[in-house]
Amino acid sequence: MCGIIGYVGFKEAYDIIVTGLKQLEYRGYDSAGICTQHSQSLHLVKYKGRVENLQQSKIQGTLGIGHTRWATHGKPSDNNAHPFVDSQNQFSIVHNGIIENYLELKEELRKDHTQFTSDTDSEVIVHLIAKYYEGDLRDAVLKTTKRLQGSYAFCVIDKNHKEIIGARNGSPLIIGVGKNENFFASDVSAVIEYTKEVIYLNDFEIAKITKNFIDIIDFEGNNKPLAIQEVEWDIEQAQKQGYKHFMIKEIMEQPKVVENQLKVQFDFGSKPKTVHIVACGGAGFAGVLGEYLIEEISKIPTKFYHGSEFRYRKPILHEDDLVVAISQSGETADTLAAIRKAKESNTKTLAIINVVGSTIARESDDVIYTRAGPEISVASTKAFLAQILSMYQLAYALKNEVFTFQDYKEIIEQLLQLDEQIKQLAEKYFKYQNFIYIGRNRNYAIALEGALKLKEIAYIHAEAYPSGELKHGPLALVSEDMPTFAICPQDEFYEKNFSNIQEVKARNGRVISLATEGDEKINLISDDVIYIPKVDSILYPLLETVPLHLFAYHIANFRENDIDKPRNLAKSVTVE
Ligand code: M6R
Repeated sequence: MCGIIGYVGFKEAYDIIVTGLKQLEYRGYDSAGICTQHSQSLHLVKYKGRVENLQQSKIQGTLGIGHTRWATHGKPSDNNAHPFVDSQNQFSIVHNGIIENYLELKEELRKDHTQFTSDTDSEVIVHLIAKYYEGDLRDAVLKTTKRLQGSYAFCVIDKNHKEIIGARNGSPLIIGVGKNENFFASDVSAVIEYTKEVIYLNDFEIAKITKNFIDIIDFEGNNKPLAIQEVEWDIEQAQKQGYKHFMIKEIMEQPKVVENQLKVQFDFGSKPKTVHIVACGGAGFAGVLGEYLIEEISKIPTKFYHGSEFRYRKPILHEDDLVVAISQSGETADTLAAIRKAKESNTKTLAIINVVGSTIARESDDVIYTRAGPEISVASTKAFLAQILSMYQLAYALKNEVFTFQDYKEIIEQLLQLDEQIKQLAEKYFKYQNFIYIGRNRNYAIALEGALKLKEIAYIHAEAYPSGELKHGPLALVSEDMPTFAICPQDEFYEKNFSNIQEVKARNGRVISLATEGDEKINLISDDVIYIPKVDSILYPLLETVPLHLFAYHIANFRENDIDKPRNLAKSVTVE
């Protein structure tokens, strides 16, 4: 995680870096800092806390680097904030990733009398560069990369030269190609205001940028071509446009998302023997839904794995299987590792990814991009909806059919009109500290998603269970202090769900039901009901996320939480 940016050009680097860091804050937001070069010296500001803290101390220079941090080694503090400088104040670096052998390197550098100012793993990089510097910064970086184990994207500047060197191994780094100015950044959002032309650096590459020159070599020193790509979206899409939070803006964008996503083509030459789906967090719940749908629709055995578990459980993979990775960012370390593991077994890989050009997209055999557009809120909503829709598209494509859902866009528009009702409901429930979510079969995947959102942004303990599992233990928790959110559409499981809700009511539990319009019976056993339109049974999960996301959003809003940047989290999890 962490966001990094570098600028060299003709404008004040500080302004560009602060603006870019604000766009990157979703990657981490516990401290931030900038280093500029001016009058042949380095100028450094860094603070614990948000990027906005930097606004109190502008520094000059037309070249600089910046960082917004999600702590891994060393707690959030001014000292542990990036950038770091060497003992002579000649070099400065920002780093995203983890240097696994930093303790050994620290020990070695200490023997050379290097003084460390932080508890981070990252600081070793700047001292190694100082150690290896013999007049050429890129050479020093090349030598340094030979000493580093782990994952990294870092940028380095020195006090004398108008150039920035960036290196990548396992963490994302792009170059923004401008006119008389060039950029480094962790992702496109930080530079899109200035240029739509970008180069995605590959692992084991080092780039040097000046204001009108870009050069890339690999870790062996070989020259690499400059593959410039045009970005399809623009800055407006990555701004709040009058909404209080990105999360609610992104929820409201969903009619367009589903319209675009329904046009995406899924084609398969041959049917895999087994499908293995790998993903993390919310994307994982899209995977759980995929597991149900693919088996039901295409009759192909399908298994879901959490990304973080996949490689350690020694999965049984065959050449005629298919490994499907689902990821919004396309950078999630555990999901990426799963794709690499699959390739070791020569198993075909398919990535379902939102961020174009991201690492998982590039390392997979095939990629299908979800059409959610840039998602800034740490809590995923529109990308999740695109992911679950893609699971239907995949399930039907594996049966050589095309998934269609007429009026889906209009149905999503209709669901968004529940906003006011759900806000009132949230006002009634926002003080509860515990929730249970239940749903059966495919709807269980959506119950998992509803509970995750409540944890993530409202900081409320919420657990999801398949409805029928409640009586095997969790029912002991039910009381009037622990409401149950029951997903109970009129599908083939309705009567079973109805009984499970009755079991909750019989124990004084409060129940909010998500039910089908026209279902009056559900009122008999619910304290509150949210109605969604009637559709074919199998399609209900595609309708359920809008009310669940709105519920979590309004609860978090009543609790006055920092919704777009929930505590302890980051959007793109590029560490194990
Ligand atoms: O970028 P990815 O989709 O791979 O991210 C996976 C999870 O980290 C992500 O879904 C996370 O759980 C979200 N914050 C959920 O809202």
